[in-house]
Amino acid sequence: MIVARDISEFQRARALLGASVGFVPTMGALHAGHSSLIQQAKAHNEATIVSIFVNPTQFLEGEDWDAYPRQEMHDLAMCQSLGVDIVFMPTIEAMYGSDELAIMAPCKAGYVLEGATRPGHFGGMLQIVMKLLNLTRPTRAYFGKKDAQQLALIIKMVKEYFMNVKIVPCEIVRDESGLALSSRNAYLSTTQKVQALALSQSLHRASSLIEQNQLDCAILKEQILEVLQGVDRVDYAEIVNRNFEVIQTIDKNNTIILVAAYLGTTRLIDNLWV
Ligand code: PAJ
Repeated sequence: MIVARDISEFQRARALLGASVGFVPTMGALHAGHSSLIQQAKAHNEATIVSIFVNPTQFLEGEDWDAYPRQEMHDLAMCQSLGVDIVFMPTIEAMYGSDELAIMAPCKAGYVLEGATRPGHFGGMLQIVMKLLNLTRPTRAYFGKKDAQQLALIIKMVKEYFMNVKIVPCEIVRDESGLALSSRNAYLSTTQKVQALALSQSLHRASSLIEQNQLDCAILKEQILEVLQGVDRVDYAEIVNRNFEVIQTIDKNNTIILVAAYLGTTRLIDNLWV
């Protein structure tokens, strides 16, 4: 496994890879959610690249960029054991210059839900994903449905900018209690981990009601909020279509239910693709 820390080192290693390349961009602190993406990349492609970069431009002022967990040894050991060919771990200076060209997230889909709470986050995220896709030139790139809005915006960017890569959406990986795996779960105390189950349980309640043919979003939202009473503060609970527009009635082929909530100062998200 090659660990490349600067652009030219990466490009030399990239030139040696076979015809099909799978790419998994991450911010590190790797867990089983990330490894499921890496395993899919391994299964579908001749070679696999993982990037680890805590991208400063997608964190807003006052967010957790400094505190974000960094576990280089653990991450490299995990990539090695999964048979990754190249780990790209650039410095900030390698990725960004001064007076950088910016990417604006779309005015609607990029500024609701996550984009409303974190205005500017998706612009920074798209900027780094664009850079990483251009550098790695993968056949396929793998993203988790855990970050539903991120995934939708990346699919939109690739389509609208005629980028030559196939984006592969991957299912959410959860622990045995139902909690969606996240690098930010590391911030939670034992009590908060129990409280955090309200997120997945609220989605579970919605899903059971939908199975019983309850398609009224107002009623479903009420039920979701009732379960979410277990958290410290709800940021949002919303039912949208694949364009991230709020809907009134469930369409069983085109609906995502999203929740975001705080446990202390830790903000967690979860969602369900109906
Ligand atoms: P990060 O949070 O490290 O996530 C990297 C990838 O792993 C994303 O595609 C995310 O959706 C996926 N992922 C995280 N938890 C998951 C889970 N429980 N199940 C399935 N997939 C999961 O998302 C980012 O980094 C960054 O925004 C990035 C795309 C790397 C750009 O900086």
